Amino acid sequence: MKVPLCKPYFDEKENEAVKEVLDSGWLAHGPKTKEFEKLFADYIGVKHAIAVNSCTSGLQLALHASDLRGEVIIPSFTFVATANAVINAGCKPIFADIKYDTCNIDPDDVENKITKDTVAIMPVHYAGQSVDMDRIMDLANKHNLVVIEDSAETIGGTFNDKKTGGFGIGVFSFYPTKNITTAEGGMITTNDSELAHKIEALKAHGVSSSAFERERKEKPWLRDAIYSGYNYRLPDVLAALGIVQLKKLEEMNRLRRAHACYLNENLSKEFMDLPVEDARAKHVYQMYTIKLHDNIDRTKFLKFLRDKEIGASVHFDPPVHKQSFYKNHNASLPVTEKVSEKIVTLPMFPGLKKEELDYIIKVINEAIKFSLI
Ligand SMILES: Cc1ncc(COP(=O)(O)O)c(C=O)c1O
Repeated sequence: MKVPLCKPYFDEKENEAVKEVLDSGWLAHGPKTKEFEKLFADYIGVKHAIAVNSCTSGLQLALHASDLRGEVIIPSFTFVATANAVINAGCKPIFADIKYDTCNIDPDDVENKITKDTVAIMPVHYAGQSVDMDRIMDLANKHNLVVIEDSAETIGGTFNDKKTGGFGIGVFSFYPTKNITTAEGGMITTNDSELAHKIEALKAHGVSSSAFERERKEKPWLRDAIYSGYNYRLPDVLAALGIVQLKKLEEMNRLRRAHACYLNENLSKEFMDLPVEDARAKHVYQMYTIKLHDNIDRTKFLKFLRDKEIGASVHFDPPVHKQSFYKNHNASLPVTEKVSEKIVTLPMFPGLKKEELDYIIKVINEAIKFSLI
């Protein structure tokens, strides 16, 4: 049996939605993007959502539009895009450690890393579970810092019943492994109208209005660049996919949670630590990750699973501060380093079948025997 790491949850509706846009002839920066943005803003519970072509572009735009120059505190236990966006926006990443249980950034270490040069905190909601946003917002308010939530891995997750991306400036990813997908794509959320208008312009060459909006004006041919912007737009073809996916999100997250629950009940806790849920957070399991105990050889374990056609992987090793470009960013991050050596990502997607879950559990039991040290 072959079980991939992830699989999009599509049906005829996605095909029809894409065909409708193709037939309409309006393929980019048009009505479907606006519709997707409105639905997304309503879903998160914020005033504005701005669609972009990736979360990485969105993180960079969120920093750029906030006019930040200085240190941005981020976890090193993340996909490198988090740190790259900080560098590419002209800021300096400062790495904070994580908490072992949730693998989320440790607010105590964030506090340790705040200096007179700190301008922002960029927490990453890892694998579908919110960071402790009470602590992060308290620190940000106390030190007058911007909060940009890298919510690439958490769409629909909550902290004290409030959706991630609704605390600071939220940035989401719609890459195929994420809770919803548009193939490539992202979204920025904010309650700040001025910031939203700036991001709208920055994502589209710095021009103050979209082609679709200009068509409704007296002289639609006039374009005015108010910034030296980028082209970070999400095509309407992909926004159409996003609309269909967003409507299915609650159901898809319910399925993810049910699969996680089944794995939690059936995997042996003797040789690994299973995901830990913070009682204040709703975990939406964008990924299902386990941490192997010291008596299991992870390389052997992973190879065994992959030989049996289970698409197991690792998120994340090496952590960002150990990667070539970042190796001069000195950081002492003992928990990050320990977790990155032990973590394993198992298949997780809404359409997983019971037979597939049972197969994963059976093969893991064999893999443990095979990789015991
Ligand atoms: C935490 C985190 N940030 C940013 C990204 C980048 O997202 P995108 O591929 O949409 O640019 C990812 C994607 O894997 C991620 O996991």
